[in-house]
Amino acid sequence: MDTNLKLNNLIYPYFVIAGKNKQQEIKSFPGIYRFSLDRLVKDIAQARRLGINKVLLFGVGERKDALASAAFQKDNLVAAAVKAIKREFPDLQVFTDVCLCAYTLHGHCGILKGHRSSFGYAQDGQVTLCRGQASHKLIIDNAQTIKILAKIALSHAEAGADWVAPSAMAKKQVLAIRRALDLAGYRKTKILGYSAKFASNFYGPFRNAADSSPRFGDRRQYQLDYKDALAALKEIKDDINEGADMVMVKPALSYLDLIREAKHKFNKPLVAYNVSGEYAFVKYGARQGLWDEKKMVEEIISSIKRAGADFIITYHAKEIAKWLERI
Ligand code: PBG
Repeated sequence: MDTNLKLNNLIYPYFVIAGKNKQQEIKSFPGIYRFSLDRLVKDIAQARRLGINKVLLFGVGERKDALASAAFQKDNLVAAAVKAIKREFPDLQVFTDVCLCAYTLHGHCGILKGHRSSFGYAQDGQVTLCRGQASHKLIIDNAQTIKILAKIALSHAEAGADWVAPSAMAKKQVLAIRRALDLAGYRKTKILGYSAKFASNFYGPFRNAADSSPRFGDRRQYQLDYKDALAALKEIKDDINEGADMVMVKPALSYLDLIREAKHKFNKPLVAYNVSGEYAFVKYGARQGLWDEKKMVEEIISSIKRAGADFIITYHAKEIAKWLERI
């Protein structure tokens, strides 16, 4: 393993579920699990021993409704996870994903206009869609969405998160969160903007993991068009102006040009998200004997670093740490 690959630059994602003593495998996401809090803390202890010092948390499997209320309710799952982690590992840098898609019935990242009457209901844990919904025009209520994102972020900050990371691609989400945090006295809680987040085909395994696929429509109305580099750079600039402490390009591999450009254009720490589909490519190919997993990961992570990323969110982090230990 290339020793230039510093564990300090890697952020490892975790999926958190309610309950006790649970470690669930995730369909089509080899090597990645959903953990209940007790098991999460144990797994993080192992990651710590390997040298990982940054984690990103996603809450999964909570009650879904039109307003994503499970995401910001008192003692919500992610807040509870942050508390438990910080109790055990006070110096671990904890990032939390701030989004609605795992908590809304329709699976979109924002509140939809007209949601109360026409966007489905939950029955025995199943989401049933109302008739005619598929053809319903998808309109995000941005003002309402950023209010809720701010509430979610605040609940994570109160629990002790070091970084909150809004990923809904709602307009002015960073500003709304910064204001809410400052007002409540959380000036030190930092914001990582998922600034240039593309409407990508590479999120498949993640959506299985987080049960966050849109039940109808897609995310092209609020995520970026991969043909449009200028729009991506503008989003990054906007996030910086709104107060983001770090900015992100996501996914990583098909967007190395933008990582490079953003790094040169803006004087901000840059994060690249090596997403679930990129990870799955490597895993499935290695299983088929098409390539050596370790060498492939080394090439990929090196290329993302070479392009200019300061930090990389990657599902490979634990394995990289193990490989580094053995060099
Ligand atoms: C939620 C979110 C997604 C990912 C991170 N946060 C899914 C999406 O936008 O559909 C994807 C991460 C991955 O694929 O690893 N908004």
